[in-house]
Amino acid sequence: MKIIRAKDYKDMSRKAANIISAQVIMKPNCVLGLATGGTPVGTYAQLIDWYNKGDVDFSEVTTVNLDEYRGLPRDHEQSYWYFMHKNFFDSVNVQPDRIFVPDGSNPNAEEACREYDAIIRNVGGIDLQLLGIGEDGHIGFNEPGEAFELGTHCVDLTESTINANQRFFNSRDEVPRQAYTMGIKTIMQARKVLMVANGANKAEIIKKAFFGPVTPEVPASILQMHPDFILVGDQEALSLI
Ligand code: GLP
Repeated sequence: MKIIRAKDYKDMSRKAANIISAQVIMKPNCVLGLATGGTPVGTYAQLIDWYNKGDVDFSEVTTVNLDEYRGLPRDHEQSYWYFMHKNFFDSVNVQPDRIFVPDGSNPNAEEACREYDAIIRNVGGIDLQLLGIGEDGHIGFNEPGEAFELGTHCVDLTESTINANQRFFNSRDEVPRQAYTMGIKTIMQARKVLMVANGANKAEIIKKAFFGPVTPEVPASILQMHPDFILVGDQEALSLI
């Protein structure tokens, strides 16, 4: 595990974007696992900036996103498909047929998850997986208590996650209660994992996840065992370690 200390959010975003663009430069046809949430938005903005300057090219890159709400169509403003297009894909040259997000509009959970695992397998696995972290230690939508050995599956979101995500919806009632997410197994199989974390509200969980026991109660803690895991955090998020 490598921990990189950034001064602030901007610095964290720049450092994370540097690691991603290094990956794309080293292997132009790499597979990037991407994440939603507020934290990576600055990383995407920095990558867009470097793309516009001609410093990084995504024309051969394949992307697989971590998760999607079950029941939201792609064009719903809160779907992760929509989020990713608004914050990244619409502004860079990732080819549309190389963009993959779990199909939240498929009500057949078993089929949607099986198909997504097949996609990840067919593209040759993930070279670099970007992650945020939930305040309860969730990664993707792998909530506390999830088995470590799962591939893509359907999850019931916890109260903590529903509360944290309600800021994006008009009301709490509108927050979907389920999601399709890559499993911990899928994430652990990525060849490199990069987590971004910022803000004082993440300090406790960062300490617990990376300096506490490895346990399904803190899903991110398994990353301690990953052979190439990098955490880039700002001062506040890393203030307790
Ligand atoms: C959601 C996403 C996660 C993300 C988490 C934290 O639950 N499914 O992938 O890491 O939110 O979000 P934020 O970065 O806004 O704190």
